[in-house]
Amino acid sequence: MDKRLRLVTGGAGYIGSHAVAELIENGYECVVVDNLCNSSYESVARLELLTKHYIPFCKVDLCDREGLEKVFQEYKIDSVIHFAGLKAVGESTKIPLTYFHNNILGTLVLLELMEKYHVEKLVFSSSATVYGDATRFPNMIPIPEECPLDPTNPYGHTKFTIEKILQDLYASNTNIWKFAILRYFNPIGAHPSGLIGEDPLGIPNNLLPYMAQVAVGRREKLYVFGDDYETRDGTPIRDYIHVVDLAKGHIAALKYLDAHSTDGLCREWNLGSGTGSTVFEVHRAFANASGKEIPYEVTGRRAGDVVNLTAKPDRAKEELKWQTHLDVGMACTNLWKWATENPFGYQLKGVHARFAE
Ligand code: NAD
Ligand code: WQD
Repeated sequence: MDKRLRLVTGGAGYIGSHAVAELIENGYECVVVDNLCNSSYESVARLELLTKHYIPFCKVDLCDREGLEKVFQEYKIDSVIHFAGLKAVGESTKIPLTYFHNNILGTLVLLELMEKYHVEKLVFSSSATVYGDATRFPNMIPIPEECPLDPTNPYGHTKFTIEKILQDLYASNTNIWKFAILRYFNPIGAHPSGLIGEDPLGIPNNLLPYMAQVAVGRREKLYVFGDDYETRDGTPIRDYIHVVDLAKGHIAALKYLDAHSTDGLCREWNLGSGTGSTVFEVHRAFANASGKEIPYEVTGRRAGDVVNLTAKPDRAKEELKWQTHLDVGMACTNLWKWATENPFGYQLKGVHARFAE
């Protein structure tokens, strides 16, 4: 096995931590860089417990060039899996400059150092949000990668811009750069061990974390944002993907990049299941998995929500040999284990509380 390290930016976060678990399980060695702005060291400590491996961790902001350069100097890095970024759509409309600064500058500094240290492979966390409202093209549901991009919020603009930066950089030297752009649909669930999961700060924006907090009694009820959409039960459809399946998609992408070691590439892949679920269907699945009644109230539509975001995942299946295996029910079961065993996320039950900030 290649002993050079995979640099995982944002590896203390929700998806990054699951990817680190998967990487180690597949024999890769990692170094994690994270500024902990939306995570805690506890997730890395839990990863060590889960994988029984020491995981080098550097608390560094990607925009801190000197700090990040030390990581490139200290570790022999083979490739980068780049999760680090701010991700809240609503927040991005309030503080767009912070989003542009953090996500775009962070990526630029990373790419400049990759160029300087001859690290040429990168897997990038993009998002289905780059498609915007794909229902404007009725023949493009489920959404293929060829669907025109039209993000509708600053967060989405950062992902779109980074995709363009990667394409332009690749075009500048098509022999060298190898970029995998992964467009995630709606990641949900947690690791089946119950040791790592999503730990949102404050009031959760997303459906599943919010529902989990209702189920453990932290919130009174779920607000369903509209039941007057043109769908089978009136609520919007999303392609929910188990975070462990999603993490495995990164291994598949790395293998693809490794297999194309003689020539460069820059390619996009949707990571979704291809199956859409409505809000009420997910609500039922979570109620079943938890054995809890989840009180809800239907309120008005949430600004910016679209009726249907379902992936056409064929390209990933054909080229990356990757597809989802875990359904929404399993994601709910694993999320429920995580939520009941860690009702306050990583905050209270620290296995390595002495490192907590
Ligand atoms: P997360 O917030 O849990 O993880 C992101 C991590 O990046 C956090 O640990 C945070 O502390 C770190 N970070 C942010 N800015 C940084 C910086 N400048 N320097 C160093 N570390 C920094 O989010 P997540 O859900 O794990 O998302 C991971 C990636 O996937 C993000 O890029 C996100 O935009 C993308 N994505 C997420 C979703 C989703 O629904 N969760 C969907 C599509 C795409
Ligand atoms: C799912 C459905 C809501 C909360 C977001 C980002 C997207 C990507 C994934 C990063 C919608 C409904 C939700 C609630 C509800 N992230 N809902 N009550 O909006 O599809 O996607 O996360 O790239 O960019 O926009 O996910 O979980 O917020 O919503 O009724 O309290 O649940 O209306 O139909 P979304 P979500």
